[in-house]
Amino acid sequence: MKIGLLTSGGDCQGLNATLRAVAKTAYNLIPGVELYGIQDGYKGLIEGSWRKMEPYEFSGIIRRGGTILGSSRQPFKAMRVTNENNEDKLSLMLKNYKSGGFDALVILGGNGTHKSAHLLSQNGVNVVTLPKTIDNDIFGTDLTFGFDSAVEKAASVIDAIHTTAAAHGRVFIIEIMGNKAGWLTLHAGIAGGADVILIPEIPYSADSVLAVINKRNTQGRTFSIIAVAEGALTVEDAARSKKERKNSPRLPAGEHLASILNGRLDQDVRVVAPGHFQRGGEPTPTDRVLCCRLGAKAGEMLRDRKFGRMAALRGGSVIDVPLDEVAGKQKPVPRGCEMVLGAKLLGVSFGEPV
Ligand code: F6P
Repeated sequence: MKIGLLTSGGDCQGLNATLRAVAKTAYNLIPGVELYGIQDGYKGLIEGSWRKMEPYEFSGIIRRGGTILGSSRQPFKAMRVTNENNEDKLSLMLKNYKSGGFDALVILGGNGTHKSAHLLSQNGVNVVTLPKTIDNDIFGTDLTFGFDSAVEKAASVIDAIHTTAAAHGRVFIIEIMGNKAGWLTLHAGIAGGADVILIPEIPYSADSVLAVINKRNTQGRTFSIIAVAEGALTVEDAARSKKERKNSPRLPAGEHLASILNGRLDQDVRVVAPGHFQRGGEPTPTDRVLCCRLGAKAGEMLRDRKFGRMAALRGGSVIDVPLDEVAGKQKPVPRGCEMVLGAKLLGVSFGEPV
């Protein structure tokens, strides 16, 4: 059995740990299996760039960040765009899959990657996928690998900012990754004891945020910590169409909020954006365990020729779900979920208009 492995989209912690788990399981379960590393995600499949990997290459990588295969973003919407030879990316991938003699592909990726994996599967490619992203927004799985590690990183930033914020009596806005989903900001904000948590799913009012800061000041708590997701929007911005927002882009979420608060507070406002720091470095032990569980499942799926499916975590168990149920869907934070309601009980504000 000849299997191609690829990691696609933005990287995250745990990609190597998962590749290791898939490889170890496949070598154990499938006699004569050969694993090929496809370079830089779908790009390598489009360009025919891969190489045979040896079992030793999967050893000693459980803690390594990034991906030993490289990754790239290949937007789904570009898959059917043709080149000068009238070939689109999908047809090039299908051609290379066939001429490369692959029996199956193992694809590690996020939402966009899953849409393309589904497209490949619909066109006859044997695909097994694994859910990776620090955003934790893949439909069909309770958890994605990379998420716990990013929460750890983002929360550690909030922790460190707390002490300097308190020392100077300042308002700190910490901009956390997550354009469409607020899971990372929600978890890191709660873990870091943020006073205000702003996420894309709950448009906020700057007046409400100001009211929280002013109330804290009158109570003698002269600093405030605001965790804002990259994709958080004011109520006014959320009311504009996507097209309107695209045509008049605003400052990044943290800077944007700071620009509103600045003239309205008699207090320093500072913005910290840890950015890709949140995606870097080693996976946490919790993530490594998840990678091992999902990777082992993927190995079993290969042996059992259970294709067109994603290994997933549901209610504490590792299962596999059809890509038909996963691709093209999102997993936003439900406004009324227990975590949001619980945080509110603790006094956290989501900046909702009053
Ligand atoms: O999808 C993961 C993610 O880190 C998002 O949270 C973020 O919006 C985006 O990727 C950043 O993308 P890039 O690495 O291409 O700048």
